Amino acid sequence: MSETTALVTGAARRIGREIAFSLAEEGVNVVIHYRTSSEEAAELHDKLREVGVGAPLLQADLKDATDLNGLIPEATKKAGKIDYLVNNAAVFPRGSLEELEFAELVDNIRINSWAPFYLARSFVKSHEGGKVVNILDTRVAGYDWDHAGYYFSKVLLARMTKMMALKFAPEFAVNGVAPGLITPPEGLDEEYLRNRTDRVPLKKRGREEDVARAVSYLLKTNFVTGQILYIDGGRNLLHELEG
Ligand SMILES: NC(=O)c1ccc[n+]([C@@H]2O[C@H](COP(=O)([O-])OP(=O)(O)OC[C@H]3O[C@@H](n4cnc5c(N)ncnc54)[C@H](OP(=O)(O)O)[C@@H]3O)[C@@H](O)[C@H]2O)c1
Repeated sequence: MSETTALVTGAARRIGREIAFSLAEEGVNVVIHYRTSSEEAAELHDKLREVGVGAPLLQADLKDATDLNGLIPEATKKAGKIDYLVNNAAVFPRGSLEELEFAELVDNIRINSWAPFYLARSFVKSHEGGKVVNILDTRVAGYDWDHAGYYFSKVLLARMTKMMALKFAPEFAVNGVAPGLITPPEGLDEEYLRNRTDRVPLKKRGREEDVARAVSYLLKTNFVTGQILYIDGGRNLLHELEG
C-alpha cells in the first residue's frame, strides 16, 4: 500500500472525482469525502481499490460545524495520516450583486472559504508537514456579476491561500488552482461551454484532467507556495484587461 495519502473534498463527482482518480493512478491513497453523492462515492471507492490504493469513504456536510470539526481527525483515523489536502467541494449558486442577501453571502463563504480554511488549519495543527491545494476559479482575477456570493467567497479563499502559504511555511505549502470553463454547471449541457469559448484566448474549454494535472503538479513540487495556477486557456488575462 502507498505511503502517501490525500484527502479530497467533494471527491465523488465531476472535477473532484478526476482529481481523486488521477492521484490514485499516481499511487496516492485517497480519502474520498462526499456529502450526498454516496453511490458515486462508493463507485469511486471500488475503482480506486482496483487501481491498488486505499480509498476510505468519509461523509460530512461542510456547512455543519460538528462535521467540519471532525473531518480531519476522522480522515486521519481512517488513513493513519494525511499528506495532501485538496479543498475541492463548493457551491455555485446564481445571484446578482443587486439582489445579494447577507444569508446567501454567508452560505457561500461558509462552504467555499471558511471550510477550506478551517480544514487546512486543522490539517496543519495535527500534522508535521504536507501540501494544500485550494480549488479557486479564474473569476478571482476579475468579476462575476451573476454569481456575486460565490465570487466573493472564491476571492476570499484566494487571499486566504496566500496568507496561509506564508503562515504555514516552511512545513506546509499552500497553493491554488483556478479553473476556467471546464464542466457545465449542474443542469446545463455542453452547449453552455460551447457558447462561451469565444471569450477564451485559446478558444476552447478545458477538461477535468487539465485541472487534475495542475493539482498533481502542485502536490508534488517542493519549491512552490502561495501561487495560483490558472487552468483557463488564458481567460484570467482578459479579466485583467476588463478589470
Ligand atoms: N466546473 C467548472 O467548470 C469550474 C470552474 C471554475 C471553478 N470550479 C471549481 O472547481 C471545484 C469543482 O467544481 P465542480 O463543478 O466539479 O463542483 P460541484 O460539482 O459543483 O461540487 C463538488 C462537490 O461539492 C460538494 N459539496 C457541495 N456543498 C457541500 C457541503 N455543504 N458539504 C460537503 N460537500 C459539499 C458536493 O458533494 P456531494 O455531491 O457529495 O453532495 C459536490 O459533489 C469547485 O471548487 C468549483 O468552484 C469549477
